Amino acid sequence: MLPGNKRIKEAGVSELIPTAAIRDLKGLSGQTVRLQGWLHGKRAGGKVVFLVVRDGTGLCQCVVEAAAVDAFAKAADLPQESSLIITGTVRAEDRAPGGAELAVQALDILQASKEYPITRKAHGIDFLMDHRHLWLRSQRPVAILRIRHTLIRAIRDFFDTNGFTLVDMPILVPGAGEDRQSLFPVDYFGEKLFLTQTGQLYLESACMALGKVYCFGPTFRAEKSKTRRHLTEFWMVEPEIAFAELEDVMALAEDMIVAIVTAVLERNRADLEFLGRDTAALARIVKPFPRLTYTEVGDLLRGPTMRQKLEQELEQEKTRLQTLSTELNAAEGALKAATKARQQELAEAHVRELRETIQELEQEIRVRPDHLALAQSFAWGEDLGGSDETIVSRQFTQPVFVTEYPREAKAFYMKVSPKDPKVVRNFDLLAPEGYGEIIGGSQREENPDTIEESMKAKGLRPEDYSWYLDLRRYGSVPHGGFGLGVERTLTWLCGLKHVRETIAFPRTLGRVYP
Ligand code: 4AD
Ligand code: MG
Repeated sequence: MLPGNKRIKEAGVSELIPTAAIRDLKGLSGQTVRLQGWLHGKRAGGKVVFLVVRDGTGLCQCVVEAAAVDAFAKAADLPQESSLIITGTVRAEDRAPGGAELAVQALDILQASKEYPITRKAHGIDFLMDHRHLWLRSQRPVAILRIRHTLIRAIRDFFDTNGFTLVDMPILVPGAGEDRQSLFPVDYFGEKLFLTQTGQLYLESACMALGKVYCFGPTFRAEKSKTRRHLTEFWMVEPEIAFAELEDVMALAEDMIVAIVTAVLERNRADLEFLGRDTAALARIVKPFPRLTYTEVGDLLRGPTMRQKLEQELEQEKTRLQTLSTELNAAEGALKAATKARQQELAEAHVRELRETIQELEQEIRVRPDHLALAQSFAWGEDLGGSDETIVSRQFTQPVFVTEYPREAKAFYMKVSPKDPKVVRNFDLLAPEGYGEIIGGSQREENPDTIEESMKAKGLRPEDYSWYLDLRRYGSVPHGGFGLGVERTLTWLCGLKHVRETIAFPRTLGRVYP
């Protein structure tokens, strides 16, 4: 039993009062219930105090009238984020966030919070990230974490209902699964091991055992990239299927994307709207997704139409910058004129938000010429860069498959195309609206000699992968799979600017605290 329940009992409130979650209140109109939560915000108005309480399932306005003498006295100067148990009667209220509010009878304070660092004032991203352990309680992280949960659940449901077996893969591994440069070394009792970059190589053995398998776990890349797309620790789901070619793997990816978008729209529409996500853009996602080869994308990047489009986009951005600057002037004026504390807080938040947006847009405008130059000089043979992916995926409202990259730009395990040995049978799936790669996948090379040759070309020693080559010696079959990055996918689904907000405690080049 919670200590609060005991204290409530001592205060004379019946033990029999049921505890309710805020999300369920609407259906409990007229009933007396107990809420367990934290004080999110507060307003006082003479003979009444409004406590906005959060419990992880929603927000509820709790009305404390002067007549509830004891509760009213306690509510008056209760600090933000104090932990509480509140007893009261549920009242239907259309204007309230969840359609109901609580008329408070008793208020039990488990702990009166000290000065909570995250106030209603506007805070910068570094401050918020330094306080990530507390920031998680705010509405924005809560909405994102709820969508993350739906995404992971939808992915598992998809594979579980389509005949796949989940097999967990090791995290400590002796060698590279992708490139050697991005390995994190670990001292393993004097031996050098690494944190896994992908479960794929091991998963291929499980695939030969079970046919259709997937793994879902944390993966690590020591990438010294300070971009809005890179984490050093991220979660990846990887399916692998036997007796499959590239087209089968792509069809699987397509079905999975449609399934997860559908699930998120179905279960988290309110969260998406809270984040300001254009849900119509997600509702438009239907298969089949466009399919382009790498070579076609190269032509597109270098082409005159793309130059025109990019120049147009730049003009639009400049116009938008002007509009925002005018808005900022007005907002700064409003801030100066604000007299009440709440007015000031709101005006300050608005000014900060506008300044941040303007900064980002200015940065975008600054790098535009470079991105255009990179696109125009794109040479066959290199991997698509981050800016190339942005440029290409901005032209689409659907996710786009880009297939058959140059062999030298991709991993050693990808199947060399029988039609054109310069390219491999692989694909990247680029999320639309400029989000870029969220999936990388391929058919796998079956010929052990070809694999050895590719390994050597990439500085890997075939003898370290003897076990992997065994898979090509004993009953090899055409097979393939892909890896979807949870955080990148979530950045797109939620319409965020940066991947760092999609995981509770992000690990990036510049941050491992808290
Ligand atoms: O394209 P990648 O490197 O593919 C693989 O690892 C394959 N072994 C997968 C397979 O075929 N089984 O990574 C897959 C996905 C990327 O498309 C991206 O979504 C995500 O993992 N990803 C990252 N996400 C965040 N931060 C990073 N540094 C990431 N690197 C890859
Ligand atoms: Mg990739």
